[in-house]
Amino acid sequence: MSIVQLVILLVTPIILLVVYVKQRYSFWSRQKVPFIEPLFPLGSFQNVHNKSFADISREQYNQMKDRGPFHGLYFLLQPLVAITDLDLIKTVTIKDFNYFPDRGVFHNPKRDPLSAHLFSIEGNKWRTLRARLTPTFTSGKMKMMFPTLAAVGDNFSAFLVKTVAEGRELEIKDYVARFTTDVIGSCAFGIECNSFEDPNSQFRKFGGLIFDKPRHSQPVRLFLKLFPEVGRRLGMKSLRDEPSQFFGRLVKDTVDYREKNNITRKDFMSLLIELKNTGGQLTIDEVAAQAFIFFGAGFETSSSNQTFCLYELALNQECQEKARKCVQEALKKHGGLTYEAVSDMAYLDQCIKETLRLYPSLPVLERKTVQNYRIPDSDVVIPKGMKVQIPVFAIHRDEQYYPNPEVFDPDRFCPDEVVKRHICSFLPFGEGPRACIGLRFGMMQSRVGLATILSNFKFNICPKTAVPLQYSASANVLQPKEGLWLKVEPL
Ligand code: HEM
Repeated sequence: MSIVQLVILLVTPIILLVVYVKQRYSFWSRQKVPFIEPLFPLGSFQNVHNKSFADISREQYNQMKDRGPFHGLYFLLQPLVAITDLDLIKTVTIKDFNYFPDRGVFHNPKRDPLSAHLFSIEGNKWRTLRARLTPTFTSGKMKMMFPTLAAVGDNFSAFLVKTVAEGRELEIKDYVARFTTDVIGSCAFGIECNSFEDPNSQFRKFGGLIFDKPRHSQPVRLFLKLFPEVGRRLGMKSLRDEPSQFFGRLVKDTVDYREKNNITRKDFMSLLIELKNTGGQLTIDEVAAQAFIFFGAGFETSSSNQTFCLYELALNQECQEKARKCVQEALKKHGGLTYEAVSDMAYLDQCIKETLRLYPSLPVLERKTVQNYRIPDSDVVIPKGMKVQIPVFAIHRDEQYYPNPEVFDPDRFCPDEVVKRHICSFLPFGEGPRACIGLRFGMMQSRVGLATILSNFKFNICPKTAVPLQYSASANVLQPKEGLWLKVEPL
């Protein structure tokens, strides 16, 4: 082979690759849509290794928001679109929901049956299951489960009283997560996890693994989001094997035990078993997957919310006093921690919502088009299968909607203030038919946890408290980078 032939052989593939990449990266410029300049190979998502998704998304939002209601992005060679205009977000999530019914979350029912849960499944499967599960979350059902929650609240309080006889510095997330683990363990699986006395319980261990140490790194997770079919063909899984086996086995054993002994309890598990046994509306694998997502989605979101709330209340002592007063008044008025009492804590509710504004569990909401969609008032067509991002964290910290956005100010959620804002300026539970199904339960859990601790303890920052907070780059959901330390004193 001559030198010339060798050079041609080596250079041709490089030229072809460059042409291909250029062609892929011209998708948005051809559509005349503003976009974030991509850089091969990661596209518009540089620094995915060392920055949280919340921070990356906020930087992109601040860079692009003034350039139009939506903008283009690339991950690897794949174009995706981010929507920043609140009216357009409303249209996509509610009015034109039929174009965007799916989230495009990677799941692999064959290799990883627990991954086929309500959050990830798509199309008619999702529609049918959502309709079947919705009655599980009515306020009547919440009221029915309240005593279980309150009993865990009592254990929490007794445990804290014992642990914090005098002032102590605590990694608060660990303690709150034990509370929410026990609540959801009890309500979703009907199992007393006892994480207070046994912090290394299987539930705590595996619950922590799901979010703190996902199976894949951030770039691989992004890859699977964009190319789920490729992931499935490669036989990839989304969950770690150990927690998956633990939760799968646990559900099967619990169902077996309850059916053999004719046991019904006031919890999610009994409601799921009822669906399995009435006309086979759910298979046993589907029951397991739903119990798993109730546990996963329910314990982490709510424990983060309470942790971040206590952090902000430690930094804002006046708000803490006001929240405590509101709790104590409601307890007095209703004769203790009843369902009615926690529904009558208006200021505490405002603190929870202000915390959800500053620290939404999902910093970015996702949708996927199932048909070509022409964006209203434009000539731009989003092709079928494209991923859509809604940058919740960035919107919640946009001073156009929330003046002094970094300041914790629960009065933003007074009813008079709320009505002045666009409904899509506050999206901690998402929006439209695909919004969080567990909103009521999540709020109730946060109220019970916070009411229990605020009525018994005072919180302050200590030398180990990180101010300002940094967020974890590896976690699936918004979490502090390191633990969150506070000084806790009995009242
Ligand atoms: C403070 C607590 C919670 C927060 C902040 C939260 C947040 C969210 C968000 C942002 C979504 C996505 C919504 C969208 O894409 O529009 C979601 C979906 C979901 N959440 Fe929650 N959640 C909480 C509590 C819970 C609880 C307690 C459960 C169950 C017991 C739960 C179960 C689910 C499920 C199953 C979905 C998927 C719904 C679907 O796709 O149909 N969540 N949640």
